[in-house]
Amino acid sequence: MTTKAIQPQSTPGGNNDASAPYRCFPAAELHQNLAAHSEEQLKLFLESWEDLPVDSYMKDGADYRRRRYGSFRWAAGELVADPAGVFHQTQEVNSLHGGVDRAFPPLSESVRESAVLDTLIHFFMARLPGEFDPVTSGVGVHQIRITATHDADGLPAPEGVHEDGHHFVAQVLMRRTDVDGGESQIFDRNRRPIHRTTLLDTFESLVIDDRRVFHGVSAIRPVDGVRRGIRDMLLIDYFPIRSR
Ligand SMILES: [Fe+2]
Repeated sequence: MTTKAIQPQSTPGGNNDASAPYRCFPAAELHQNLAAHSEEQLKLFLESWEDLPVDSYMKDGADYRRRRYGSFRWAAGELVADPAGVFHQTQEVNSLHGGVDRAFPPLSESVRESAVLDTLIHFFMARLPGEFDPVTSGVGVHQIRITATHDADGLPAPEGVHEDGHHFVAQVLMRRTDVDGGESQIFDRNRRPIHRTTLLDTFESLVIDDRRVFHGVSAIRPVDGVRRGIRDMLLIDYFPIRSR
């Protein structure tokens, strides 16, 4: 597969190249597609990030990352939640936290069955930067909160420049409060930077072809005058079931 040279861009939504290994979606486009959901449904979905346990697999007992995880697959055209299981990345893909099964706390029932989540999964599935066959694929959903204080930066990607080991990954900003930093960065397979942007608005998104690019996110810090900053993300992995 060829990787076309792409000039770095800093404007979300500025990438219209259909062959590019990533796509950007402004918040307005997501809001338009979520318009069928009530304010209450959207509020409940966003508030579910308030109920994430600390990620106990972080090295050195770091407690700045909270998360939940669940996976789904398609059956007769419908998304069906898998029984709670483990999340696995190889050590090769994730040298920091890979090589072990990680039993993250599961998604809450209301998130697992959320119509908002269902819309988001289908929205990105229809707009992935490459071919995708839902019949042979699964979907992983990560709810992640990174907290930064003046004593400790929050590291959205402590492994640095990396890949996730999936086919596609949608990165959806859910909340950004009192935060500086957190620049999303995309690199080609030679680790040369090809795109960077800072997600600022709720539902602003980036989708990558994880086989064609590496990615990273810079540290977050609280803005001056506040004790802590928060960055909430929804990550949606699209992966082939047979290769797992
Ligand atoms: Fe990642």
